[in-house]
Amino acid sequence: MNVLFPKKKFKIISQGGNMEFNLTKTCRNLAASFAGECQAGMRYQLIAKDALNQGYKTLSDEIKHIAKNETYHAKVFFDYIIQNNGNTKNIEITNGFPFEGDTIENGLMFAADAEAKESDLIYPEYARIAAEEGFKEISDTFLRVAEVESHHRIMFEYLYKNFKEGTLFTSDKPIEYECTNCGFRFTAKQAFSVCPLCKSSQGFVKLHLP
Ligand SMILES: [Fe+2]
Ligand SMILES: [Fe+2]
Repeated sequence: MNVLFPKKKFKIISQGGNMEFNLTKTCRNLAASFAGECQAGMRYQLIAKDALNQGYKTLSDEIKHIAKNETYHAKVFFDYIIQNNGNTKNIEITNGFPFEGDTIENGLMFAADAEAKESDLIYPEYARIAAEEGFKEISDTFLRVAEVESHHRIMFEYLYKNFKEGTLFTSDKPIEYECTNCGFRFTAKQAFSVCPLCKSSQGFVKLHLP
């Protein structure tokens, strides 16, 4: 068995009353969520690329990590659709998706905003509708994803504020800064601009995240 990607056996989670699954609001909400998660993941990858190009390696890695989370959210939603709707149905959705964030700073700000909408409005509402239509497991999943998005919001708010203010690598009181390349550690109010041990730039210093 492949331990990284174990095969799953699909089963129908709920009949959702007598409705055909593809006629439910939950089916359309899953499709919209899949589209939203795919786009969020790609937007974050683009911010991560800009961050890397500007020398912010650890910032880039953190944003990539969140992008990976969104890819897995998309996979969970995709699997629910396939599981309940089969392989062949085309699902029509009409939705608005954001195209914002022309700089790292803006990208981080809009990302925090989008995460807040998902965690506070969109997914709780989709969870409510799924429960109403009889899809308990899907409802619980929407709520679990909302919880993750809530943490993503906190992360993006932190990254946005500190990137904007130039305080990603400074602190009011002395804290430990670590070079992610060589492991050198140093306690001060400000991280080294060049690692004294391996000469890596400040962009490789481990971030202090919320
Ligand atoms: Fe997500
Ligand atoms: Fe997210």
